[in-house]
Amino acid sequence: MRRYLIAGLLLAAAAAPMAEAGPLGKFFANMRRDYRRNNCWPDPFVAPDRAHVYAPFGVMVQNGWRAYNTLGEHHFRPDDARLNEAGMNRLRAILSEAPPEYRAVFVAGGADPQLTAARVAEVQELVAKRLGLLRSDVYGVISFYSYFTDKPVGKYKINVCTGTACFVRGAERIMHEFSAALGVHEGGTTKDMKFTLNGLRCVGACSLAPVVMVNDRVYGKVTAKQVAQILADHP
Ligand code: FES
Repeated sequence: MRRYLIAGLLLAAAAAPMAEAGPLGKFFANMRRDYRRNNCWPDPFVAPDRAHVYAPFGVMVQNGWRAYNTLGEHHFRPDDARLNEAGMNRLRAILSEAPPEYRAVFVAGGADPQLTAARVAEVQELVAKRLGLLRSDVYGVISFYSYFTDKPVGKYKINVCTGTACFVRGAERIMHEFSAALGVHEGGTTKDMKFTLNGLRCVGACSLAPVVMVNDRVYGKVTAKQVAQILADHP
């Protein structure tokens, strides 16, 4: 009986190409495709490998949009923190023409913290006006999402995930290590403006807990001993 069953299956597999259009044909076609994918050289072509290959392109796209969406020195009038015509045009383009997922606005820091704060306030005001919102609504979004900020931050943003999975696997200890190594508390920036240390809610990589992100780079299963190496990776 068992032999007949196997013979039947083999027959069906052999007949499948003839019925490529039917559901059985599709099933065997997918099976053949997956077999080839998972046995290709040099390594099985599996999702993590693919993600690894895509990641640098994702970072390039992100960085490209970030550069495009940054209001720099030349977008502000030299004598005060108001946007000039080029700045207004760029802001309008970001808010209406960029794909919805890339409509974050970045403001380049001024010569001193006061100038930076004045520029950020000006841009918040204009964004609110343009979108028909109150400035407090705009501020509410900025302060709610940890990815946004209206204060100058360091070159490298260290975000220690403090979500539940990371917390139970020692995120607090990791945060403490970074804090001690950098000499700043959570939310602080080192004097040389190199590192800003922050906590972050779940970044969706709980299986890698505890997770640390430095800008776009993700470190998983971080131990206290790795903290010094992570800092050394960012000269
Ligand atoms: S809790 Fe840290 S990645 Fe989910």
